[in-house]
Amino acid sequence: MKKKILVTGGAGYIGSHTTVELQNAGYEVVIIDDLSNSTIDSIDGIEKITGVRPHFEQIDCNDLPALKELVKKHGDIQGIIHFAASKAVGESVQKPLLYYRNNIDSLINMLEIMPENKIKGIVFSSSCTVYGEPDNNPIDETAPIKPATSPYGNTKQINEEIIQDYIRSGAPIKSIILRYFNPIGAHPSAEIGELPNGVPQNLIPFITQTAIGVRECLSVFGDDYNTPDGSCIRDFINVVDLAKAHVIAMDRMLEDKSDEKVEIFNLGTGNGVSVLELINGFERVNDVKLNYKIVARRGGDIEKIWAEPTRANKVLGWKAVETLDDTLKSAWLWQLKLREKGIM
Ligand code: UD1
Repeated sequence: MKKKILVTGGAGYIGSHTTVELQNAGYEVVIIDDLSNSTIDSIDGIEKITGVRPHFEQIDCNDLPALKELVKKHGDIQGIIHFAASKAVGESVQKPLLYYRNNIDSLINMLEIMPENKIKGIVFSSSCTVYGEPDNNPIDETAPIKPATSPYGNTKQINEEIIQDYIRSGAPIKSIILRYFNPIGAHPSAEIGELPNGVPQNLIPFITQTAIGVRECLSVFGDDYNTPDGSCIRDFINVVDLAKAHVIAMDRMLEDKSDEKVEIFNLGTGNGVSVLELINGFERVNDVKLNYKIVARRGGDIEKIWAEPTRANKVLGWKAVETLDDTLKSAWLWQLKLREKGIM
């Protein structure tokens, strides 16, 4: 029988790509999403790619009674992948309580329902933001956690601590915490991808929307950093590669491949790429011209960070395999598809 997984935030960017990979691997997926930063279209996209429509319910993870009812209804959920969260760094500075409420309460609810429903494992979406500005790059999982530079970043740190404290208290669950670097790109079918509400805060959607003419000009936040070309450096990881790591993590917990109750992995390529290199690469592989200008630094940005992904490579047997060129092509194909559909 297919194992059933609850995916919170499954209509969102990383959640939808992960649902595709879970279904391809033979899992049955139940998605809950409040659609606050996603649309039901991604469920259609998942069905088009896999031929299977995941179960979907519009539920807010903070609504504990609704959550309990859903889990009872399905009866045999074995694992949770918890994506649902607010993720705009700038907004979190303006609305800290919203971020603490959404990102902390929802995780507590997930953890609380696990033992009583015999749900064995939870994969948690964390971020390289927990490292702050690294002393050295590439950065591995043993690096110190630095004070968070935003409420958003703080929620990820607190979430990681909550999971560890709960498991330390003897809760009969396992967890794998995945620290993402910068996920970009879209499924090669262009049926699912990243579609932020309003003005994009992240680099790639701003690039693709500028290239297609929705935005007039891309602002590059700073070219006076201590990096070869002066712009910030990130580890841009293909979203499908990233999604596949979640399937491996879920298999690992459900099949008890490790005795550890909590494990932490960096998910990145191991390569640092600057913002200007990314822009140039996007123009080159897609043969488009981008209107961009250099502006002042954005508050709170990290200068340079890229992953040491060896632990995930060795222990999980996972490795990022997509090239940056193909990833940038997939991002543009997705934007063209949105235009074709009249969405953006
Ligand atoms: C940020 C968070 C990360 C979070 C992610 C999800 C920090 C330090 N990073 O990643 O934890 O998981 O958002 O939303 O908290 N840039 C431009 N112009 C733009 C947009 C971005 O130049 O219009 C630059 C930024 O200055 C940065 C790079 O592009 O140097 C990447 O920015 P972005 O895509 O927003 O991701 P992060 O800030 O790395």
